[in-house]
Amino acid sequence: MFDKLSSQPVDKIMQLMQMYKLDDREGKIDLGVGVYKNASGITPVMRAVKAAEKQLWETQETKSYVSLVGDVAYHDVMIDLVLNGAVARDQIAAAATPGGTGACRQAFEMIKMAEPRTRVFVSDPTWPNHLSILKYLGIETVPYRYFDSESRAVDFAGMMEDLQGLRAGDVVLLHGCCHNPTGANLNLTEWKLVVDVLNAKGAMPMIDLAYQGFGDGLDEDAAATRLVAASCPEVLIAASCSKNFGVYRERTGILMALSADKSKVAVAQENLSFLNRQNYSFPPDHGARVVTMILTDPALRKMWEEELEETRLGMLRLREQLAAELKRLSNSDRFGFLAQHRGMFSRLGTTPEMVEKLRVDHGVYMVGDSRMNIAGLNEATIPVLAKAIIDAEI
Ligand code: LMR
Repeated sequence: MFDKLSSQPVDKIMQLMQMYKLDDREGKIDLGVGVYKNASGITPVMRAVKAAEKQLWETQETKSYVSLVGDVAYHDVMIDLVLNGAVARDQIAAAATPGGTGACRQAFEMIKMAEPRTRVFVSDPTWPNHLSILKYLGIETVPYRYFDSESRAVDFAGMMEDLQGLRAGDVVLLHGCCHNPTGANLNLTEWKLVVDVLNAKGAMPMIDLAYQGFGDGLDEDAAATRLVAASCPEVLIAASCSKNFGVYRERTGILMALSADKSKVAVAQENLSFLNRQNYSFPPDHGARVVTMILTDPALRKMWEEELEETRLGMLRLREQLAAELKRLSNSDRFGFLAQHRGMFSRLGTTPEMVEKLRVDHGVYMVGDSRMNIAGLNEATIPVLAKAIIDAEI
């Protein structure tokens, strides 16, 4: 049997993690996988998470099953965090999922179950695993222009032109904030124009919201998702708690299916439940429970919001410092985009050969498309990276 299996393409991000581990150079810099690291290079358990876990350990009496879609209390707090009343609760079906990836996977499966010929429009570039899962499920993808490699900002004219190719029933995958891999984002005026095209064409938005709180703030980062949710008749939202709660390995995500037609919500809910049952039965509970405790307890919530804000501001500072150092070394403004981008990532906009050179000559690890995890930097490594970028003549 197993001899019939062929080998699978390597996941570039996972491969990079492995290569970094095996590199024994002292000064190596990991800007690969999207995991937040503090100034000491550690991905800490957040204070509120620790406190909630302690409480949970002391009070939890059972680990028996919850429900196929997880705990409704978790749905409620997450719907509130993401949508904050933009859509009435009875217009939303929801299911807990193993991380944001699990939510994306279930969303794509639901799309395929509803209509196998659905085309999914994806930003060029997008998170590589979007494309990989869509391909695995046999769903047709259509790229839309997104990133202007000259300005390193959104190519909004190109994006709008490509969205003109939408047909009724198509799905458009959008990153709610902190675009991965580029760090370049639409402003709210642009989001409104996107909504107009979607509605004019009869296309459905699917939003991947993996970095709420990492860009401009918890509410600011959800503003586009709230706008889309309030303006489109049907919306899918895949949200992740991996980054903003730092619970990566607990696999804590949620899929929301919104319908302005309330009579469709029950069937959407049934399908979410069915899909969970087919794929893994019950979703993981620990991370979801901790998130629910934090969001419902005012003291824990305050503690969490404060630490998240420290994290966000820390990343912004790193962006500004890197841009300033590059400005100093290059005597030009051409790296100013680094301070404009938001979230964990910025696409430097150089060739795979240069990325390779940075790795080989300087021990700097970034994804081949020149995506850098800004949170992998600290005050000591910024000058080293800036010098390496200038030396490589990027
Ligand atoms: C990333 O893009 O690096 C993260 O979302 C982690 C992952 O699973 O790829």
